[in-house]
Amino acid sequence: MVDAPGAATFRTPAEAYDRHIGRYSGELGRALIAVAGVRPADRALDVGCGPGALTTELVAVIGAEQVAAVDPSAPFVEACRRRLPGVDVQEASAEALPFSDDVFDRALSQLVMNFMTDPPAGVREMQRVTRPGGTVAAAVWDYAGEMTLLRRFWDAAVALDPSAADRDEGRCMPFCTPDSLGQLWSEAGLRDVRVASVTVAAGYDDFEDLWRPLELGVGPSGAYAASLPAERRAVFKAELRRRLGAGDEPFRLTARAWIATGRVP
Ligand SMILES: C[S@@+](CC[C@H](N)C(=O)[O-])C[C@H]1O[C@@H](n2cnc3c(N)ncnc32)[C@H](O)[C@@H]1O
Repeated sequence: MVDAPGAATFRTPAEAYDRHIGRYSGELGRALIAVAGVRPADRALDVGCGPGALTTELVAVIGAEQVAAVDPSAPFVEACRRRLPGVDVQEASAEALPFSDDVFDRALSQLVMNFMTDPPAGVREMQRVTRPGGTVAAAVWDYAGEMTLLRRFWDAAVALDPSAADRDEGRCMPFCTPDSLGQLWSEAGLRDVRVASVTVAAGYDDFEDLWRPLELGVGPSGAYAASLPAERRAVFKAELRRRLGAGDEPFRLTARAWIATGRVP
C-alpha cells in the first residue's frame, strides 16, 4: 500500500518519537480510554500503536492478554513488542487489519487517522473487527488551534518561508476539526457518534529538550526541521523558541485533541 503523506516519517527510532509527540501520548491515551468507556473485562485493539503509549495504558486497565496492537512502522512494532510482553503486536495497517470479524469490544486509534492512506477504509476495518454494540474511537490533534507545540512550530515555519504552508498540519490534515472527524464516523455507519474535546500537557526541561528530537526527523514537523540547511535551521530554531516563549528553564505546553466515539450497529 502507498503511504499517506507523513506516514513514512514514523519509520524512526522509537526513542525519538517518545521525546517528541510521545510526551503527550500517555495522558492522551488515558483520556481516550475513559471517553471510549473501556472496561476491565474488555478486549481492545490499538490501531497505529506507535511505540506503545496507548497500548501501555490499555494494558494497565484490561491486562496484556486482552490487548492487540498494529502499526506499519517496523521499528515502532519492535519497540511496542519489547515494552509490552504478552500483547499481540503485529506489523499491519488500519486498512487491512489482520483479525477476524467481531473479536474486540473496543477499537481505538490515537493520532493516526490523518496518516492513514484510506481513512474511511481504516474506520470500516475498525468497525468490522469490533462486535455489534462495541465502540470505535479515535483521537486527533487540534492542529489548527490549540495543539500548542505544532501550532507554534508551523506558524514559525510559515512566517520564515510562506511555501511551508503546504506542510502546515493545521491546513493539510483532513481530520482536525470536530465536524470533519464526526462526519468520518457518521459516514462509516457508526451510531451515537459524539466528538469530545480533551486537553493534555507535556513538560520540558528547557527549549533544547523540545528541539533535540525535532532534528531526528520524526513526524512531519521533525522531517521539516531536519530538512532545513544548517543556517535556515538555526534561524527557524530561534524563531520557534521566541514564539514558544521558552528558554533555559523547565516549562509545560498544553495540547488539545478531539475524540470521536461511535457504537457499532
Ligand atoms: C503520531 S503517531 C501515533 C502513535 C501512537 N498511537 C501514539 O499515540 O503515540 C502515528 C502512527 O500512525 C502510524 N500509521 C501510519 N500510517 C498508518 C496506517 N495506514 N495504519 C495504521 N497506522 C498507521 C505510524 O506508523 C505512527 O506510528
